[in-house]
Amino acid sequence: MSVRSAIASWLTRLYFTRLRKKGGSLDLSILSKLPDGALLPLRREGVDPVPEIGALRDREPVSRLPIPGMTVWLVSGYDEAKEVLGDAKAFSNDFRHLVGVGGAGADQNPGGLGFCDPPDHTRLRRLLTPEFTMRRLSRLTPRIHAIVEEQLTHLEKAARESPDGTADLVEHFAMPVPALVICELLGVPYEERDAFQQFSVARFDVLGGAGASFGAVSQSLDYLRGVVAEQRRHPGEGLLGMLVREHGENITDEELTGLADGVLTGGLETTASMLALGTMIMLKDREHFDAIRDAQDPAAVAAPFVDELLRHLTVVQTAFPRFAREDTVIGGVPVSGGDIVIVSLSAADRDPRLGADMDAFLPSRPPTASHLAFGYGIHRCIGAELGKMELRAAFPQLVRRFPELQLAVDPAALEFRKLSIVYGVDTLPVKI
Ligand code: HEM
Repeated sequence: MSVRSAIASWLTRLYFTRLRKKGGSLDLSILSKLPDGALLPLRREGVDPVPEIGALRDREPVSRLPIPGMTVWLVSGYDEAKEVLGDAKAFSNDFRHLVGVGGAGADQNPGGLGFCDPPDHTRLRRLLTPEFTMRRLSRLTPRIHAIVEEQLTHLEKAARESPDGTADLVEHFAMPVPALVICELLGVPYEERDAFQQFSVARFDVLGGAGASFGAVSQSLDYLRGVVAEQRRHPGEGLLGMLVREHGENITDEELTGLADGVLTGGLETTASMLALGTMIMLKDREHFDAIRDAQDPAAVAAPFVDELLRHLTVVQTAFPRFAREDTVIGGVPVSGGDIVIVSLSAADRDPRLGADMDAFLPSRPPTASHLAFGYGIHRCIGAELGKMELRAAFPQLVRRFPELQLAVDPAALEFRKLSIVYGVDTLPVKI
């Protein structure tokens, strides 16, 4: 494999995987090929991006990442990030040219919308958009509340049955809530849901393994192909059934699978991380927990809490890699056609140009709706409203059901994911 395609494959894997084995150890075979500085956008201290990237952003918002064999730019400034994300003409999301037509992974589109450009992106996104309007999403509201309540019951049962009265909030709450909401959205039949949930969680384990490869992604896509085939035969009420009924002749099974996979990849781990890290923040700093618990109108307190949480955590640390189509400039810095551009969303969302004291978590600050936690431009998260609906329902229900909720471990002992595109914790032991 040439250096170029090795790096291309690494970048792609970097996006999909946590670059670690299930046990948490790093896949050193990949990392050892990269200089330390190349991993800067994935490094954090607790929930904060490391100070080095903040200093770099303030000094050089567009800088070269030290990756041998090709030019990779790190964009860490807010304005510069918007320049890149907002210009789909100058920057492509399609990495397949890097692995070569017919090369490993060239026929895969494992991220759905996130890895394609207009006109394909425009056509596919247009098909999905009607399912993500507030009107259409509002049909999910009662189901989201019911799913949250059911998972809180599971959490309670797990804590009661455990000898030390603790339970893992990630396993019983943060992961299953978004997995089941995605089932609702896609229209996965009830009898399939246990399998779907297990598959979704396993998918991230598969991807996290040292042997993660296009082949492994492909295997996990097989499950979704089955779901799509079933919807083709018996279209249901959800997103897949709607696509089959209304656009069945204009969309291939492979495209449907890619879209379903993109929704799963986009909506599961992100929302799960927000739920787990958000709970951790509330439990470390009880003031936020009490404010939601004691509010007359918890929804009114939860909304600014969630918005600030999204910005502060920016769990999707970097956007999908972009490729400069031709020579251009970012923030006045010349970039050549073919260069790779990594946008650090987490550094950009702490940029002082967004406001004062951006490293602090302040739900009372004036709304920063323009943060980049959901990206910007044509690839801005299609599930942003759905994600917010889940978070705004889940936090108030959690604190009201378990007003004495506590972390069951010292916060300093919590293990955060290392070098993962979607930042988070894999377990969060709590006492109810
Ligand atoms: C709070 C949770 C979420 C966060 C923080 C988040 C974040 C993001 C970000 C940053 C992007 C843009 C990446 C880029 O431009 O390179 C994105 C795109 C995307 N997200 Fe989300 N997301 C969340 C929830 C969801 C949900 C619930 C769904 C669907 C059920 C979803 C589906 C997608 C899809 C399909 C894309 C690709 C859109 C496109 O390329 O046109 N996300 N998300």
